[in-house]
Amino acid sequence: MDKKRGSFSGKLGFVLAAAGSAVGLGNLWRFPYLAAKHGGGIFILIYLILAVTLGFTLMITEVSIGRKTGLSAAGAFHKLDKRFGFVGYLACVVPFIITPYYCVIGGWVIKYLIAFVTGQVEAAAGDDYFTTFISEAAQPVLWFAIFVLLTAIVVILGVEKGVEKASTILMPILVLLTIGIAIYSITRPGAGEGLRYYLLPSMEHFSATTVLAAMGQLFYSMSLAMGIMITYGSYMKKDTPLRNSVRQIELFDTVIAILAGLMIVPAVFAFSGGNEEALNKGPSLMFITLPKVFDSMTFGSVIGAVFFLLVLFAALTSAISLLETNVSMVRDKLGLSRKKTTLIVTIYVLIVGSLVSLGFGPLDFVQIIGMGLLDFCDFVSNSVLMPIVAILTCVCMGFFVKPHVIIEEVETNGDFKEKKFYTVMLKWVAPICLILILIFAVSEALGFVTV
Ligand code: PFF
Repeated sequence: MDKKRGSFSGKLGFVLAAAGSAVGLGNLWRFPYLAAKHGGGIFILIYLILAVTLGFTLMITEVSIGRKTGLSAAGAFHKLDKRFGFVGYLACVVPFIITPYYCVIGGWVIKYLIAFVTGQVEAAAGDDYFTTFISEAAQPVLWFAIFVLLTAIVVILGVEKGVEKASTILMPILVLLTIGIAIYSITRPGAGEGLRYYLLPSMEHFSATTVLAAMGQLFYSMSLAMGIMITYGSYMKKDTPLRNSVRQIELFDTVIAILAGLMIVPAVFAFSGGNEEALNKGPSLMFITLPKVFDSMTFGSVIGAVFFLLVLFAALTSAISLLETNVSMVRDKLGLSRKKTTLIVTIYVLIVGSLVSLGFGPLDFVQIIGMGLLDFCDFVSNSVLMPIVAILTCVCMGFFVKPHVIIEEVETNGDFKEKKFYTVMLKWVAPICLILILIFAVSEALGFVTV
């Protein structure tokens, strides 16, 4: 019954659903800490350049592949060119790596939500609160399991409509709240320097790692190179303007990410000084800095609670789209019922995610090429697999299927102003940049180059 391929109601439906998947922890948690770590303004500048060139090229290609074939990644590549069928499968591996650790962070968000709801703002703002929490064994795993179960319930019920409806109400609230907290954070004494660091590009902070981090983030944030946008494209109606929709998703996703950074990075300067150590907190940045901001606010516990509730919602909509992708792939392969498949995938996520979570505590001795488990999963998916999938997509569409197929699909409705630019990007610029970036990422991880 749910095999039947639905379609989005129209342009808004597509944009909202894709934005629901795109806007998540990537924007609110990952972008700010990467921007803080990789030089602030210069990271943002590179990210913006990549978004309008590489991001645009890949997203419009993926959505068009989906709409043209009416299939999700695994079948779509096969239909376009049999020799590239494997690319679809490769793309499908990525969500399997991301889902478990995404849910671990989701668990952290629930923990903070509960802390704020139960009035433990001051404790949560303490310097060691976060580190103590994640290095425990049982607690983080418990919150992680709760997050996974919430996600799994929605996937089993298949309440897509409800989630879509909730998005239309909750996403605007999230935007308003983010703007409000960003303004508060920017106006704290000492935040000016942080604002400058975050917005003014300085070449002094530029390095190849900055480009690499920005590109990995772009893929992650826009749910690219993992088959998601192909599936979404397959649900898109022929009369929905494709190019404009893609531009809108990109804009929305980028604005939220930059706002999230405005909320966090200046606050790092105001509350912890702008030294390297404070900026380098990595994945924990959001959980260490924001509680301090809330603690210093009147009604901080209420605002903090509302904030974490919205982050939880954004994380859930993304996690649902991740789990849903895993489930539909396993189902296509094994032909089991939705319930059974969700159960199998959930058990997989629970096992792998628990290991990732324990990687901050009892399993912290497990280091793979110098990385903890979460960082390693993040590295394999974002810095290795996604560039490979993206390169193969460009080669397949640029040289075998040919760019005109995409251009014609885009031009079924509305014009494709940048089609010349697109062709050059798809055939040459994107694959060459991606290959260089991939080589660099791997050599850096294996210790051949140091930056
Ligand atoms: N784009 C999401 C984020 O920025 O949080 C992460 C994500 C969600 C990736 C769903 C992939 C996906 F299918």
